[in-house]
Amino acid sequence: MGVKRSVEQQFGPVAEEYATFNVHAAGPDLAPMLAAGEMTGNEQVLDIGSGPGHTALLFATKAQRVVASDPTQAMLDQGKRLAQERGLDNVMFECTSAEKMPFADAAFDRVTSRQSAHHYADVPAALREVARVLAPTGRFVLVDTFSPEDDELDAFLNRIELFRDSSHVRDYRVSDWRDMFAEVDFELTDVAAWDIPLNFEDWVRRSRTPEEEVAMLRASFASASSRVRERFAVDDKGNWSVPVGLVVGTRKA
Ligand SMILES: C[S@@+](CC[C@H](N)C(=O)[O-])C[C@H]1O[C@@H](n2cnc3c(N)ncnc32)[C@H](O)[C@@H]1O
Repeated sequence: MGVKRSVEQQFGPVAEEYATFNVHAAGPDLAPMLAAGEMTGNEQVLDIGSGPGHTALLFATKAQRVVASDPTQAMLDQGKRLAQERGLDNVMFECTSAEKMPFADAAFDRVTSRQSAHHYADVPAALREVARVLAPTGRFVLVDTFSPEDDELDAFLNRIELFRDSSHVRDYRVSDWRDMFAEVDFELTDVAAWDIPLNFEDWVRRSRTPEEEVAMLRASFASASSRVRERFAVDDKGNWSVPVGLVVGTRKA
């Protein structure tokens, strides 16, 4: 495989695509995420790994204030543009990684993270930061690609994700999240899961995957076992379905 790209190298050039890509801009998880936030309208919300802000801007319609944070400035610039287009003036933007955030202790009532945790270099550090900045009665609403509990399926999923995007770190299992939540005294509630269909060509175009890795992906799909093909609904063109889940973390009583 080629050289590992940094998060900024991976996401900076494709920020515009992520602002319009329909699985992100209008995924089936967005409305359930907002519902899981149990918003009253008075909340201070922090969205981490905000990208072009699809989650932050949605929560801004039901919150007092939202901070959209991400280490890739080009992504935040897309979020600023979308906030302006929608007339949202309660969204602030902060360029920061989740592992070390410049926010005060207990500053937020809700923390959200959507489709970004599998890029975090150090999830336990990010969770310690989430626990620090979240108020005692706060809620952490997490959506990510969740790997199956089965070793073969887990290995396949993480291998293709890494071929496609060399900044990929790991799609964790729900059981991993439960263990990592427990380390920061969060209880995990398993809310929902979806298999979201992906078109192979769009998927690799959006991430600008180099040709060599595209060839490796094609080979991986072509040689996948029948269990893998069945679980991820792989077809002969390499179209497949990604398992996405929503969990909520609250402090243990
Ligand atoms: C797929 S985009 C996020 C999509 C967005 N949350 C949404 O709702 O559409 C993934 C984002 O994760 C960000 N990211 C990568 N590593 C990160 C880290 N360590 N901390 C916070 N964000 C990170 C990237 O910069 C990128 O913008």
